[in-house]
Amino acid sequence: MEDRYFIEGGSSLNGTVAISGSKNASLPILVASLLTPDRSVISGVPYLSDIGNMIKMLTELGAQVGCQDHQVTVHARDLQPGDQLCLLAKTMRASFLLMGALLARNGRGCLPLPGGCAIGARPVNLHLKGLARLGAEISIEKGLVTASAKRLRGSEVCLDFPSVGATENIMMAATCAQGVTTLVNAAAEPEIADLALFLNKMGARVTGAGTPVVQIDGGHPLHGVVHTVIPDRIEAGTFMVAAAATRGQVRLKQVIPEHLRAVIAKLREAGAEVEEGTGELFVWAPREFVPLTIETAPHPGFPTDMQPQFAALMATSGGTSRIAETVFESRFLYTQELCRMGACIEYSGDSIIIRGIKALSPARVKITDLRAGAALAIAALSTWGETEIDGIYHLDRGYEELEDKLNGLGARVRRVEEQAANL
Ligand code: UD1
Repeated sequence: MEDRYFIEGGSSLNGTVAISGSKNASLPILVASLLTPDRSVISGVPYLSDIGNMIKMLTELGAQVGCQDHQVTVHARDLQPGDQLCLLAKTMRASFLLMGALLARNGRGCLPLPGGCAIGARPVNLHLKGLARLGAEISIEKGLVTASAKRLRGSEVCLDFPSVGATENIMMAATCAQGVTTLVNAAAEPEIADLALFLNKMGARVTGAGTPVVQIDGGHPLHGVVHTVIPDRIEAGTFMVAAAATRGQVRLKQVIPEHLRAVIAKLREAGAEVEEGTGELFVWAPREFVPLTIETAPHPGFPTDMQPQFAALMATSGGTSRIAETVFESRFLYTQELCRMGACIEYSGDSIIIRGIKALSPARVKITDLRAGAALAIAALSTWGETEIDGIYHLDRGYEELEDKLNGLGARVRRVEEQAANL
């Protein structure tokens, strides 16, 4: 059954919203909890379908997993991949993070090659090159990747691109490799630093996480830990843009402003006011927005996961904005849907040019990926009339209780089950 949203736009978002724990930090940390036969307790884990899928995979690997009040307990005495693992792994790209942990614990991992998706081909060549540098033998047959190693050994790994997933996978494998691994051109996202914190609490020796050079002194015994994941910076950024686009005033609680530097800077450049407090942010919209030039880049650059939301904001700002996407090769599919709402957007190489118009019009639109969904929700909220949004299972992957949080700020969002919507 596929649910859809009906969003009655036109109300400014006002009030306070609490940001959930980070999806992209929770996923690798759940995987890292497999690196020890001890029990770990992870708090602040958001209730999302991606997290539910990952928990199913941990269970399928033989881990005992308990969930209560955003707290997940993982106890993986042994890892024994079950029959359903590959089927489950196919549903989510982040499942490939299990490779590093399986190699480290069992000396062998076998997982499906993740497919392409609506935002790009997303290969795993950098993950595999890195694991091979640590001594893993890699083979790919009929869409299944097998990595095996009698013993992993530390090495220098230089990534061609600072891939988030490859950095995480290699870091996890390297904690169990003998000797020092130096990861050069590593991703520096806050989620990497959170994973390193978790690994170090377990007894690993990781330094430099959150910078382009990460060192892992591997082979130290790892034990169970208690950890709370960082807040979701992309959920926070999405609410900030939604507040601005609806000409509202919103206070965000449970945020780390430091993780949102590029987003805050662009909102201020556009004319919004952003006030920073301890663990909170206050955003209020200007009367008029100034057009923006944005180029996505690995952290600390402007996050690719925030460009669709800014495109929705710029669609009704005066003047001409430009967004260049440098991380994923096809992350502009959502613009077709924004154009159905009247937005004036055209392609120019790896960029889009947005000519701001006075107002968008409601339409029936379809979500193509998670952040595309966020952009369409923002567009619908800032438009007079009712917009119908299909494919909201994409939003359920990454935004916890989205309609409740938006409605708490004065929005009018209804979730309708497909059957009921067809009546
Ligand atoms: C993670 C985030 C995702 C975010 C992205 C970039 C999670 C669960 N997801 O995805 O929300 O949009 O970082 O910030 O944390 N690439 C290769 N070969 C590889 C690996 C990646 O060519 O082996 C390419 C990808 O196709 C893409 C770019 O590198 O074009 C960035 O990908 P990567 O940083 O790996 O993103 P993910 O870890 O998949």
